[in-house]
Amino acid sequence: MGVIAGIGGCLPGRSLDNEDVIRTGALDTTDDWIRTRTGIARRRRVTAGTSTGDLATAAGRAAVASAGERPDFVLLATTTPDHPCPATAPAVAHRLGLGEVPAFDLAAVCSGFLYALITADALLRSGLCHTPLVIGADTYSTIVDPHDRDTAALFGDGAGAVVLRTGHPGDPGAILAADQGSDGAGHDLITVPGGGSRHPPHHPDTAPEARFFRMRGRAVYAQAVRRMTGSARTAIDRAGWTTHDVRAFIGHQANQRILDAVADRLDIAPHRRFGNIREIGNTAAASIPLVLADPTVHTSLTPGAPTVLTAFGGGLTWASVALTWPEAPPHHEPAPARPS
Ligand code: UT7
Repeated sequence: MGVIAGIGGCLPGRSLDNEDVIRTGALDTTDDWIRTRTGIARRRRVTAGTSTGDLATAAGRAAVASAGERPDFVLLATTTPDHPCPATAPAVAHRLGLGEVPAFDLAAVCSGFLYALITADALLRSGLCHTPLVIGADTYSTIVDPHDRDTAALFGDGAGAVVLRTGHPGDPGAILAADQGSDGAGHDLITVPGGGSRHPPHHPDTAPEARFFRMRGRAVYAQAVRRMTGSARTAIDRAGWTTHDVRAFIGHQANQRILDAVADRLDIAPHRRFGNIREIGNTAAASIPLVLADPTVHTSLTPGAPTVLTAFGGGLTWASVALTWPEAPPHHEPAPARPS
């Protein structure tokens, strides 16, 4: 089975508080509204010229240093790749000096990291790889409409990564159980409508604004609570635990009210809920691994502590993983100011 052997994170140096974001887009909102309705106070943003692949490479390098293992496979979860084609993962593998390892991108929006973690664990169990590097990285500042008050203040940029190795259920960091699903009936609730084959970028009917990210917040909110609660419960059951056994609950950092609603429904006590939404907002595919990489979270938890990770995102997609808290201390790398 897969065991988390190393954890890495990378955040851009530039931090914007709520007032900074409001000024950028002249948004009809307030610091108080954003804080009380989402729990977000500030977020990090890349400067022009720094890409998702740059953050992913830095987080990947940090995870490799934390693990002390050389990855033999790279999975990169992102919806903001460096280019529509090719995938970003092979370039990341090359920049990490990993040789000709298999590498691909996986798109499951904010559930992407957990989809990639579950896939990497399955590849490892099948014998196809032994030390996969799993990265969640996004730069939503490149697709968010600065004038859209439904999204402009919510998202930040970043990358987080883990390296898996083969291990046993008693090892700290062991991936014990998982759950995942999708519901394409809700595909239009979270979308970048233009720029793909449905509305090609060069087509005269595709407006430039169609390249912006859009989310129907209230409808997504209700789905996020329902799906993360059900999925986390399934993963906890499959691990042979009850929700009272869980020592660390880490949900996708979309909205503090959503996270509290899910944890309340699961009856997980407030001191067992961990996150960083106040400081870095919603970093999409990077959200969960950046909580794993948070030094404060790491020092609060004992290796081996029963942990549940749960995420929800566009697609619609959702996923949860039951694991024990890993031992490896997280490493961090600064974001490069420009492509290296
Ligand atoms: O990462 C993928 C998953 N993402 C999520 O799960 C995000 C899910 N959605 C959300 O986090 C929330 O729905 C939002 C933060 C996007 C919006 O919060 P909400 O509590 O659902 O607001 P609402 O859309 O229900 O609007 C409530 C009120 C409305 O005013 P009235 O009609 O009650 O007078 C809105 O016009 O708040 C108003 N409002 C705002 N006011 C100031 C909505 N957005 C804003 C805003 N600033 N940015």
